[in-house]
Amino acid sequence: MCGIVGYVGKNNAKTVVLEGLEKLEYRGYDSAGIAVVKDGALKVEKRCGKLQNLIEHLQTIDMSSDVGIGHTRWATHGEPSDINSHPHFSMDKKIAVVHNGIIENYLPLKNELIEKGYRFISETDTEVVVHLIDSMYNGDMLKTVAEVVKVLKGSYALAILDVNNPEEIICTRKDSPLVIGIGEGENIIASDIPALLKYTNKVVYLNDFEIATVRKNKVEVFDKELNAIQFEVKVVDWSYDQATKNGFPNYMLKEIHEQSSIVQKMLSSYLNGGDFTFANLFSTIDLKRYTKIHLVACGTAYHVGLQAKYFFNEISKMDAKVEIASEYRYQNNFIDDRTLAIFISQSGETLDTISALKKAKEEGATTLAITNVVGSTITREADITLYTLAGPEIAVASTKAYTSQVLVMYLFSLFLAEKIGKLERKEEKIAELKRLCELLKVENEDEIKFSEIVKKLENAKDAFFIGRGIDYYSSLEGALKLKEISYIHTEAFPAGELKHGSIALIEEGTPVIVVGTQDNLIEKTISNLKELKARGAYIISIGKKEYEDMKNSSDIFIGVDVVSQILSIFSVIVPMQLIACYTSMKKGLDVDKPRNLAKSVTVE
Ligand code: F6R
Repeated sequence: MCGIVGYVGKNNAKTVVLEGLEKLEYRGYDSAGIAVVKDGALKVEKRCGKLQNLIEHLQTIDMSSDVGIGHTRWATHGEPSDINSHPHFSMDKKIAVVHNGIIENYLPLKNELIEKGYRFISETDTEVVVHLIDSMYNGDMLKTVAEVVKVLKGSYALAILDVNNPEEIICTRKDSPLVIGIGEGENIIASDIPALLKYTNKVVYLNDFEIATVRKNKVEVFDKELNAIQFEVKVVDWSYDQATKNGFPNYMLKEIHEQSSIVQKMLSSYLNGGDFTFANLFSTIDLKRYTKIHLVACGTAYHVGLQAKYFFNEISKMDAKVEIASEYRYQNNFIDDRTLAIFISQSGETLDTISALKKAKEEGATTLAITNVVGSTITREADITLYTLAGPEIAVASTKAYTSQVLVMYLFSLFLAEKIGKLERKEEKIAELKRLCELLKVENEDEIKFSEIVKKLENAKDAFFIGRGIDYYSSLEGALKLKEISYIHTEAFPAGELKHGSIALIEEGTPVIVVGTQDNLIEKTISNLKELKARGAYIISIGKKEYEDMKNSSDIFIGVDVVSQILSIFSVIVPMQLIACYTSMKKGLDVDKPRNLAKSVTVE
């Protein structure tokens, strides 16, 4: 969703803001803009389309200044256009505002402002904010912003630039992310950490309703009544290099390659011999009291929840259910104080997941967040947080966050099982984990197979994925990866379900990706494979190396090693991610920034 960057300090604000916006491109956007204060006046430039359009447009425009705000917009109210792009500014061009989120009561506010004589030039909800600030201005911008936010309903991260006070940016947030990077002789605000990393790794996370004034040498944070707040500066252990492509053609491919080393790092951080190093997080909690587990997330993280459900059922012998966050937040979940509710979110900013967490907490559940981003909103809402240690994930299509989330869930299911006296064969299970890094390595030997697969898929309209048991959960993730970056319509089915309707879609040459790793189910999966083959499907199988029948019945077979049935996702995920990535590359698409998608979904 929208990205905000603001800068005040010793460097050229235009350069820092544009570089920061580039780092936020992964969030998804359709236009971009910047405002600086130059020679006592506001200069605002905006362009629809890629950030590059704005950068090219600015080449001949002098915008050098030590203070500026910028924005990448993901359209909600009003089509993507130059006019609707942010920053929006007051009629006298003294105040500029950038906004991430949705102002839900913008219409009544707009009508009131029109009656007062304000003219609107855009269709956005954001323009209401800037005119509201202007109409309520009481000679003190900080106090004015504090009054304005009391009137706003909905979600917002706002950065405000005022010509009359050009040394500072005022920012505030509710339900949309905003961090402040603390530098030396410069400070930066941004929607996400990668935008700051070139300048600092010291960050302050704003909480809902807090308001900050950001100057070159000073940052102050206030609560909504404008009492000063003692804020904590956190050091992020992400580096600028991690947020670069490092020689890879795109971030997604780089992140796929990183998975093996991330798993290694996670295992050495979270396991000390047979001990779980995160045990102290649960020291005050009696894990035996929980009778049910809820797993709640969106998209890829929801697919992690499905794998995790299986882990809790099989290893911890606990009742677990998985729910999509946007549904969970509006339904009766029969929560009580014996419910452990786990919320999985790479960004830690997904609005639906955070809202679902708040609901579960209100209803008495203990809440556990699984996230990748230190200090993200979800970590401040949850009772306990377990981090995935995957480093910044820039590609919109999640890869390394997925595998690291699955691993955290597996480790937690072992820990829980041990605490409640259900853990069997612990040493064997821990030994198996040590082999996962090998499985996640990208092997070049399959390159010819991948190019054949891509040849088949690049012109396909539809592709189907099937699997049984845990392989079905893996198929769902494979199908989502391919769909979101190649724009091929994909669907995943439990292998036994196809013949109850969907098999009607199979035509001569329809690609079907069959996932098979479960010894107890493979014969049945192969029967389903043959049913599809008999109807003309082109079969691409990803299965255990030793499954000869699967190999012989498929058009293309990718044989994988499996360390244990329950951990089979680690064997099949890399081929599925590569199929998606290579297909998108072959089609000449923007692998990292697929159309219409946003990395961090901060609206409902
Ligand atoms: C797909 C993908 C999305 C996210 C989903 C949740 O590749 O990345 O489906 O998994 O938007 O995002 P987080 O994990 O940040 O809550």
